[in-house]
Amino acid sequence: MENERILILDFGGQYNQLIARRVRECHVYCEVRPHDLPLADIRAFAPAGIIFTGGPHSVYAPGAPDVDPGVFALGVPILGICYGCQLLSARLGGEVVAAQDASAREYGKTDTQFDTESPIFQGLPAQSITWMSHGDYMARIPEGFAVIARSKACPNAAIGDDSRRFYGVQFHPEVKHTQYGLDLLKNFLFRICGLKGTWTMERFRESSVRALRERIGDGKVLLGLSGGVDSSVCAALLSEAVGRQLTCIFVDHGLLRKGEGDAVEAAFAERALNFVRVDAAGRFLKKLSRISRPEDKRKIIGREFVRVFEEESGRLGSVDYLAQGTIYPDVIESGGGSGAAVIKSHHNVGGLPADVQFREIVEPLRLLFKDEVRALGRELELPPALVDRQPFPGPGLAVRIVGPVTKEKLRILREADAIFREEMARAGLEGHASQYFAALTNLRSVGVMGDGRSYDRAVALRAVQTEDFMTADWVRLPWELLDRVSVRIVNEVPGVNRVLYDVTSKPPATVEYE
Ligand code: XMP
Repeated sequence: MENERILILDFGGQYNQLIARRVRECHVYCEVRPHDLPLADIRAFAPAGIIFTGGPHSVYAPGAPDVDPGVFALGVPILGICYGCQLLSARLGGEVVAAQDASAREYGKTDTQFDTESPIFQGLPAQSITWMSHGDYMARIPEGFAVIARSKACPNAAIGDDSRRFYGVQFHPEVKHTQYGLDLLKNFLFRICGLKGTWTMERFRESSVRALRERIGDGKVLLGLSGGVDSSVCAALLSEAVGRQLTCIFVDHGLLRKGEGDAVEAAFAERALNFVRVDAAGRFLKKLSRISRPEDKRKIIGREFVRVFEEESGRLGSVDYLAQGTIYPDVIESGGGSGAAVIKSHHNVGGLPADVQFREIVEPLRLLFKDEVRALGRELELPPALVDRQPFPGPGLAVRIVGPVTKEKLRILREADAIFREEMARAGLEGHASQYFAALTNLRSVGVMGDGRSYDRAVALRAVQTEDFMTADWVRLPWELLDRVSVRIVNEVPGVNRVLYDVTSKPPATVEYE
């Protein structure tokens, strides 16, 4: 089928990105666009199916988010979720009202009965748990629809019109708490929309390379490479598409972990591109000496980064395109789902160089989620260490050294961190934490080493588990592992006589130390 894609119209719900991810997990391409997308654009997108998301509004409130009514006449299947379901119902002649008493509102896990004759519930058990979150409900359903699910508080928990292929569910199939949510989405995609699930990274790679070649022609492209996953995958994809027309500037600020700068360089050594590694460690260190306030450090690093980037890119003369590793969550969050070019305010580097001349921005990853970016990186044969890399702050080790940064402290931290990482890998525990690292505290304390007394530094180890990095829990690492790491660090890293394990969650602490 040509139009193997789903359009997700966004009504502002908190799970909207999750809907897109679930659809893509089924190997179906989809995009999240604003709910008021003009009909002409909807037609141009040529979706095989449309999903209306949830949202915080009431359909009967003045100014409530709406769709172009022409969408109902396209002959395309529609699945409405929560607010989307109520909208579908209200616009087609049903009635949606506010629940008057608490018993008709539903929040959380809810026992729900499905009519398994309906194509949307086919193959699912007749009863299971769904995730509800609504204060309004469908008091009367529109003509042509049948009630196909019920819960205690909500006699019209789902509706369906098989002839028009319109379905609405009051609950959220995209969240994991809905037991058979993914099966329901699959029914919509495969049974109702007739999709096949052919979207793979291999196809994305081929089509992106083709599209990039067409767009860039013989133009020159500049990319600032940080060594992070997004910019690295972006570089690999562009290098495949336009080869030496691409110049990557990799500013090595001297605040990377042990071996990291070389690993980034090695990953691109065999590829067709102009790779410029700028060794700016001396400059950064000089600027950072005697600076101890975290925010000052970040600002200085950001500014210096831009300066170095400007100087280097200035040598290239003019370029046609500036490439960025913007990814889909950035696009959706900045409200750019409509396709407007979004300039990522790169919190790593403090903004774009103002006087780098270019015509346009290219963002080849702007439609991918993080895990898809990693999958594309694997497809492009980037080394696993780079593709599966943990998040690493732009200001690097500078925010893991409490107080002023010096060459000596960087040496200590690099060695200690490498030992920690090595032992985590050896114990097969890499997947047990979202992020783990060593930090250098500003504590010096007394110890005994051999016959002598020492007065050395304390290294802190940190390992956290988190979904979104907004909150994080510290990881209960095995004592034996912590013991091995501690013994090794104190023995192998001169200048350290104490190792601490950080048992604070976020909040109240942050993941990084500064
Ligand atoms: P915090 O310390 O704020 O960290 O709890 C949350 C996540 O963000 C990462 N982080 C940064 N990433 N530039 C980045 O690109 C930064 O300046 C920065 N500061 C923190 C941190 O590693 C963690 O994953």
